Amino acid sequence: MNQNIWIELEQTIEDQLKLQVDLSLERHHNFMLKHGLSDCQKVMDIGTGNGLFLSKVAEKHTQIQFHGIDNKPHMIEKAKTRQLLNCVWCLGDALEQETRIALSTINGILMRYFVLHMPNTREAFLQICKTVQNGTKLWIFDLDLDHYICKPEQPEFILIRDIVETFCDQHSVEIRIGTKLPPILDEVGFKVTDIEFEPFNNQEIDHQRFAEYVFREASLYNHFLGNDPDSEEMERIENFLFNVMDQNKHFVQYGMVMISAEKV
Ligand SMILES: C[S@@+](CC[C@H](N)C(=O)[O-])C[C@H]1O[C@@H](n2cnc3c(N)ncnc32)[C@H](O)[C@@H]1O
Repeated sequence: MNQNIWIELEQTIEDQLKLQVDLSLERHHNFMLKHGLSDCQKVMDIGTGNGLFLSKVAEKHTQIQFHGIDNKPHMIEKAKTRQLLNCVWCLGDALEQETRIALSTINGILMRYFVLHMPNTREAFLQICKTVQNGTKLWIFDLDLDHYICKPEQPEFILIRDIVETFCDQHSVEIRIGTKLPPILDEVGFKVTDIEFEPFNNQEIDHQRFAEYVFREASLYNHFLGNDPDSEEMERIENFLFNVMDQNKHFVQYGMVMISAEKV
């Protein structure tokens, strides 16, 4: 694959991470506050990406030490450009030994749009849970296919679901996070304290930004599946989101869930 495609894709990912922060920072920060953020001294963000979300939270809590890790060098390089006294950025894999050592000293773990990147979910949470101290808070924000809704049903929305579902199946990741993850967390030793489904839909979010968000998600998953970006399906999806979807006629929701838990 030529380098230009990666450069184009990098910008698309960057734009999507920014839009995700614009659309969800307040809701996600409030959820973390509701579930113990202010009681923490050290928080680790696993899969921090370019660090934008973590830096926005860190600015609001200068008394807390934040530690963002990601296994992609170019992401950590971007995160390091955010110079905050209470933020440290490290290249690292969620499951390697060094990360576990760092995890043993923290009391809050953030995973925002990261669980989908972690195959073998149960084993990974078991290892993390064994490492952290009792009382450590866990906040998870991620996609939930059970809450992908389009009323009345539209074939183009089913195409979007299919792309996301195929990607997750191919990578053996669990996308029904709201129902499948809580029993796993309880079993490995994280007591689930709250599950909230997000109102991430075309009634709550500005129409244009919602369409842009969903189209970029579909394009990214389509790309990672190795599919043609100009396929007839992608054209239909684009037309539906930007020209047909109407707030007064369609309720369209991209399923997202927020979960809080605590090591017991
Ligand atoms: C969708 S991005 C989410 C970024 C950020 N958490 C946010 O909310 O904007 C997922 C990130 O997880 C990182 N990642 C994937 N697998 C990882 C692993 N095993 N260890 C650490 N980071 C990983 C990817 O490089 C990517 O930056």
